[in-house]
Amino acid sequence: MGQSSLQLEAVVLAAGKGTRMKSQRSKVLHELAGKPMLHHVLDQAAALGAQQTHVVIGNQAEQVRAATPHPVSWVMQTEQLGTGHAVLQAMPGVSDDSVVLVLYGDVPLASPALLGDAVAATAGGAVALVTADFEDPAQLGRIVRENGAIQSIVEYKDATDTQREIREINSGILAVPATQLKRYLAEIAEVGPQNKQGEYYLTDLIALAVRDRVAVHGIKAPQPQQVMGVNDRIQLAELERFYQQQRATELMRNGVTLADPARLDVRGALTVAEDVFIDVNVVFEGEVSLGSGVYVGPNCVIRDTAIEAGARIEASSVVEGARIGADATVGPFARIRTGTVLGERVKIGNFVETKKTTLGNDSKASHLTYLGDATLGEGCNVGAGTVTCNYDGIAKHQTTIGDGVFVGTNSTLVAPLTLGDDAFVAAGSTITKSLDKAELGVGRGRQKSIQGWVRPDRRPTDTDK
Ligand code: UD1
Ligand code: CA
Repeated sequence: MGQSSLQLEAVVLAAGKGTRMKSQRSKVLHELAGKPMLHHVLDQAAALGAQQTHVVIGNQAEQVRAATPHPVSWVMQTEQLGTGHAVLQAMPGVSDDSVVLVLYGDVPLASPALLGDAVAATAGGAVALVTADFEDPAQLGRIVRENGAIQSIVEYKDATDTQREIREINSGILAVPATQLKRYLAEIAEVGPQNKQGEYYLTDLIALAVRDRVAVHGIKAPQPQQVMGVNDRIQLAELERFYQQQRATELMRNGVTLADPARLDVRGALTVAEDVFIDVNVVFEGEVSLGSGVYVGPNCVIRDTAIEAGARIEASSVVEGARIGADATVGPFARIRTGTVLGERVKIGNFVETKKTTLGNDSKASHLTYLGDATLGEGCNVGAGTVTCNYDGIAKHQTTIGDGVFVGTNSTLVAPLTLGDDAFVAAGSTITKSLDKAELGVGRGRQKSIQGWVRPDRRPTDTDK
């Protein structure tokens, strides 16, 4: 049977306690770039084409399951007796015709390329483990080599002083044909813990493979961060910065100018065209696309939005679930909410909020406005202080506005309402009845002007009341 016929299965270890996070939340659910660490790992397994992913859980198992909608098979490890014991628990569900990739729920940033190399290195029945060179390897397991060939992994607590000098560490990530893995785990279980920690070590597998003359290949991570585990919030922050720096570099390579690559956060998938400019402290979440020449001002939050070529999002705007047309401008200080669709050259100015609202090409709402559940045609002008009253306390109602409509400042549009093309609303109106094409709507108290009126000559006192 050729190795190429083997399918890939992943085993993800996530049963540990995570004491140093000091948290009610399971360690693997703590988020990196807006996504739980465990979900990063599950996405890696999926990217590699794993047919099945087994997640070993124990501590806070229910919480982890509830927060993870991915199609995985859950394996309970009720007692944490070591990494060898943890992987063993998953074996009954693993097909013999597979290569098993062991991953860790708290090692979130291994690249699919690195993991793919490890899987590929198992061709011909070899064992592959991912290592890295650390400047300060602390308590990590050390890779023991002889004449360059890997002999074993020795845990820090079991290591001699000389072995502790070794800088090449075991990431914990390994790829092993299932039949070998099952055989060696059975042997590790049978022999029982033979170490200072009294644990079943997965790492003992390496020496067993070497004993049996099974080829063992070390795959070295190009950057240590790819295989760094997270034990506390300080390490989580370190990996977050590493991740963000990588994203920033990638964006700049793709033709984006970043005012400061250290002040950008991408939490999701950001696709860009050339000549985008992104100012400082911008947060992108979910799926965002930026067309060519898009400008994003400082301190903006942009979530699940497509922004077309030449559009400008000015400082301190929050844009979510929207489509922003070419050459439109939004902000500064605008709030664009879900279901907003802006046509070309639309202008949304400061302190304007939109929700489930469409503005046709060249329409404007430049100041202090709320547009909700509304459709506006092309070339409309919405004056400052206009509010669509879309909610009557029970249900939401629609406002439909044609092309070329002028809404004077401080108008209240009580929905449901339709304003025909070229309709005109006088400033300060409360409009409760629809307007036909080109009709003028005036809905305000008439001004009274009183001649010879005398100002009171003193302020009223308490005894006047
Ligand atoms: C292990 C490796 C060590 C390596 C290090 C990398 C062994 C014996 N040692 O160290 O060589 O340098 O990882 O981080 O494998 N887990 C379970 N169930 C258990 C024990 C652990 O699910 O019974 C999970 C933990 O949740 C964690 C991962 O396995 O995600 C690693 O466990 P941890 O205790 O952090 O690593 P060590 O065993 O110290
Ligand atoms: Ca341990």
